[in-house]
Amino acid sequence: MQSKAIQVDWAGQARQVWVVDQFDNFLSDFAEEVGGQLTDERCPFGVLLWPCARTLAQFLFDDQTLQKDADDSSAAPRMIIELGCGVGFMACILATLCPDAAIYACDYEAGLEAMVNRNAADWGVADRVHFKLIDWREPVPEAWRGRCDAVVGTDVFYDDSHLKHLPPYAADLLKPRGRLLLADPKRYRFGQALHNLKDSFDLQRHIERNCSMHQDGIEDFMINLGVEAQKISILDLSKK
Ligand SMILES: C[S@@+](CC[C@H](N)C(=O)[O-])C[C@H]1O[C@@H](n2cnc3c(N)ncnc32)[C@H](O)[C@@H]1O
Repeated sequence: MQSKAIQVDWAGQARQVWVVDQFDNFLSDFAEEVGGQLTDERCPFGVLLWPCARTLAQFLFDDQTLQKDADDSSAAPRMIIELGCGVGFMACILATLCPDAAIYACDYEAGLEAMVNRNAADWGVADRVHFKLIDWREPVPEAWRGRCDAVVGTDVFYDDSHLKHLPPYAADLLKPRGRLLLADPKRYRFGQALHNLKDSFDLQRHIERNCSMHQDGIEDFMINLGVEAQKISILDLSKK
């Protein structure tokens, strides 16, 4: 996959993140590979960096919530799983904020592994960011069931299959009272996602943040015409 570096401001610094170069060309090739069967259930959106990931990354830095857990050794997250990791930006953030944790960057698109590894190497966290091919419509790998301290997902509710499968998958991964952090751009499935999540999770916090659309790597098709900033909901949940 042809890639390019974009500049992302995080924690007061300009950082570099690798994403796909020329999404339109990539999408045409992908459509050919899947015989023209492009649906939201299998669409290669993960090759770009979405506003939700940028917003949750800055929120986690500002809020210091994971660092506080990491400072308290009894609460320190040791195993964190990111679902729908895309290019691996959030996995790099998690590895930076939680220096003692192993981060599993999970996605069902095998082509993302090289991008995740490249970003992890650039961020100096390649020893603790591990790409894993998973599909959240399948059962959780037995070795991971109930083992995970925290699960993170950004922009992962854009198909009905996600609403049905992702909440129970995250719950199966987590230890009792384990934490689920999500960021969502409040498309029309958001209300149903929140409803489904409440079966297995208690909502601890619901925070809204604006994400400016004038940032390197934000593509025209991600934006409604004339929108300057997108409202992102951040959900902090704990497993029941
Ligand atoms: C909109 S992208 C968001 C990528 C990244 N989290 C971000 O915010 O930049 C959604 C991601 O979820 C992944 N995904 C979708 N359905 C999946 C499934 N059933 N199992 C695992 N990953 C899935 C996609 O491949 C994609 O990388």
